[in-house]
Amino acid sequence: MAVLELKSLEMSYKTQEGTVRAIDGASLRVEKGDTVGIVGESGCGKTSIGLSILRLLPPNATIHGGQILFKGQNLLSLSGKDMRRIRWKNISMIFQAAMNALDPVYRVGDQLIEALVEHQNLTKKQASDKMEAVFQLVGLDPGRARNYPHEYSGGMKQRAIIAMSLICDPDIIIADEATTALDVLVQDRILASIEKIKAEFSMTMLYISHDIAVISEVCNKIAVMYAGNIVEHGDTMSLFKAPLHPYTQGLMHSFPKIHGKLERLEGIPGEPPRLTDSSPGCRFFPRCQQSLKKCNSIRPEFKEIEENHWVACHATRRSL
Ligand SMILES: Nc1ncnc2c1ncn2[C@@H]1O[C@H](COP(=O)(O)OP(=O)(O)OP(=O)(O)O)[C@@H](O)[C@H]1O
Ligand SMILES: [Mg+2]
Repeated sequence: MAVLELKSLEMSYKTQEGTVRAIDGASLRVEKGDTVGIVGESGCGKTSIGLSILRLLPPNATIHGGQILFKGQNLLSLSGKDMRRIRWKNISMIFQAAMNALDPVYRVGDQLIEALVEHQNLTKKQASDKMEAVFQLVGLDPGRARNYPHEYSGGMKQRAIIAMSLICDPDIIIADEATTALDVLVQDRILASIEKIKAEFSMTMLYISHDIAVISEVCNKIAVMYAGNIVEHGDTMSLFKAPLHPYTQGLMHSFPKIHGKLERLEGIPGEPPRLTDSSPGCRFFPRCQQSLKKCNSIRPEFKEIEENHWVACHATRRSL
C-alpha cells in the first residue's frame, strides 16, 4: 500500500480576479522509502499540493474533488482534531521560506522540544535528549540549541527546520523548496545531509522544487507538474532517459548537460495559462508542438503507459 496517494485532487482559490484552479485533477503515489520530487515552474501549484495534504490551506481555498489517502485513509474526511494528530507525528512539512518560520523570541532548541512534548508525550528531559540527538543528526552543534534564530546563519536555520520536521519520526516529510534560498555550496552540504538521513532511516519524502537538477539528485521518482496538473509521473531514470509528455521533453531540453555533445538549449515557446481560465482541454495545448485536434477540447486522462510510468497526453497514447 502507498504511504501517500493523491487521486484526481482538485483545489481552487477564490480571488478578486476569479477562481484560481490551482490543482486541477492531480494524481500521485508515494511508496514507503520513496523520495518523490514534484517539479514544475513557479505558480504551477506545487506548494498548494503540500498545503492541501496537511489541510493547512488559507480560508479562500477549497478542495472540491478527489482524495488524499494516507496509508489508505482519506485525510479529507478526518475531523480537525484527528488531522491535528496526523501533522508532525505522521506527516511533517518543511515550508517554503522556512528560514523565516522559526519563532524569533524563542530559543531554537525549545521550539523542537515543544513539538515533542505536545505530540509524543515525553518528559522535558527525554525531549531535550531527543532534541540534541536530532541536532547532531542534521549537523548542528547541540551546544547551539540555546541560541535564538537571529544567532544562526541561513544554513543553520535551514538545518534547524529540517531537524524540526524529523523530530517526531514522521512517516513522510513534505519538503517545499527546502534548499532554494541557500547558496549552492550550503545547498550542496544540506542535500548531502538529507541523503545521509534518508539512507539511515529509509525515510519517505515528497520533495517539492522548481529546480530539476536538485530533484534529479535527491529523488528516485518524479512528478512533473504543469498549470495545476501532474502531467507525468515515474521513475527518475526513465523520465530523464525517455520523457513521454511534450512538456517534460521541453523541460529536459531547457537545461545544459555536462556530458555528451554540445547542444543548443531550446526553451518552451509561449507561457503557462492563467489558472483562472477554464478550458476543457489539455492546459499545455497552446504551447504543445505535438498536439492533436482533440487536445483543445478533451482533457487527456492520466494513464499508466508503462509500468509505474503515468502520462496525461493524447499524443503519447497514440504513439504507443
Ligand atoms: N492564498 C492564495 N490566494 C489566491 N491564489 C493563490 C494563493 N496561494 C497561491 N495562489 C495561486 O495558486 C497558484 C499556485 O500557487 P503555488 O504557490 O501552489 O505555486 P508553486 O508551484 O508553489 O509556485 P512557486 O514555485 O513560486 O513556489 C498560483 O497561480 C498562485 O498565484
Ligand atoms: Mg511554492
